[in-house]
Amino acid sequence: MVTAALARNHEITLFNRGKHPSAALTSVETLYGDRNSDLAKLQGRRWDAVVDTCGYLPRTVRASVQVLSHSVDRYVFISSLSVYADVSVFGIDETAPIAGLTSEQLKKANEIDSSGQASAVTYGEMYGGLKALCEQAAEEVLPNRVLIIRPGLIVGSYDYTARFTYWVERIARGNEVGEVLAPGRPDRYIQLIDVRDLAEWTVRMIERKETGVYNANGLPNSLTMERALEECKIVSDSDASFTWVSDNFLTQERVAPWSEMPFWMPEEGAPHLKGFMFINCNKAVGSGLSFRHLNETITDTLTWRETNRLNEKLKAGIDPDKEQGLLRKWHETQ
Ligand SMILES: NC(=O)c1ccc[n+]([C@@H]2O[C@H](COP(=O)([O-])OP(=O)(O)OC[C@H]3O[C@@H](n4cnc5c(N)ncnc54)[C@H](OP(=O)(O)O)[C@@H]3O)[C@@H](O)[C@H]2O)c1
Repeated sequence: MVTAALARNHEITLFNRGKHPSAALTSVETLYGDRNSDLAKLQGRRWDAVVDTCGYLPRTVRASVQVLSHSVDRYVFISSLSVYADVSVFGIDETAPIAGLTSEQLKKANEIDSSGQASAVTYGEMYGGLKALCEQAAEEVLPNRVLIIRPGLIVGSYDYTARFTYWVERIARGNEVGEVLAPGRPDRYIQLIDVRDLAEWTVRMIERKETGVYNANGLPNSLTMERALEECKIVSDSDASFTWVSDNFLTQERVAPWSEMPFWMPEEGAPHLKGFMFINCNKAVGSGLSFRHLNETITDTLTWRETNRLNEKLKAGIDPDKEQGLLRKWHETQ
């Protein structure tokens, strides 16, 4: 977001705790503080807009919006596609019903320690409902001055979740550790968004003073799992050979979707998630969201990983020994 805004000559102030690794940006003012306790540091200043990238609890978001209500024209809340109540249906757009939470769940969420790196995982099944309540809190305090962006799976450099990075790196390693286990149906559709496409579009939306709610993800029905993996192979000029393993086998072997096999959702086992990779993003596309070629996303993810984090174990992806063990068993049963 910062890179995208600087590229368009905006002046930026960052507000964070300084815990998170970030690019060294000497030209950017940073105010260090925790949004849970140090909001006073933001008082007495003026900005055109704020982009809230770490709002997970409604009370925290409400407090931030209240403090900033006289200091900013616009409040941009980075929400999530997880807000939707029912993702068993295809083509969800911004008018679809959003999730709620019981008061017990909200109480439980408020008690979770978020002093580290909070994320969707921190709040588990409450994440979507919480993000929905955060959206509502922002809109209540600043009616008609809030831009709500609901991204899908954000990929690219700095992605600590490593969901897409796993595939980029695993395929770049090729057959050095054996063939690559590829999950489910090759022609199954997936959706993702390059962080730069998301950020550049968000900055342009702020410039145009847009408000309202926007889904922001890659186009539905346009990228198959097979094409994504094949593109990774082309970019890294790898000798990887893919063995496509069925949902049933992986489920029987208790392979964990996402954490072990990112971008794999067993089609029969999770009917309630059937529409998660078929989200309608027409409204954002109509407002200028565009997409770079996947090739560029993969190339830059690989370069970033090679130059910055190669020795750091990825947070997602199956253990190589387990992968090869499963493949041996799969071949025996075929
Ligand atoms: N990643 C995805 O695929 C995805 C998909 C859909 C939606 N989203 C949404 O996108 C947003 C960004 O997610 P992300 O995973 O990219 O986040 P991230 O990389 O963890 O970035 C969060 C930023 O907020 C700062 N921050 C966190 N807690 C803070 C606090 N208490 N006080 C002040 N600053 C704080 C962090 O810096 P410090 O740690 O240094 O404070 C960091 O700069 C989230 O709202 C998430 O719900 C993400």
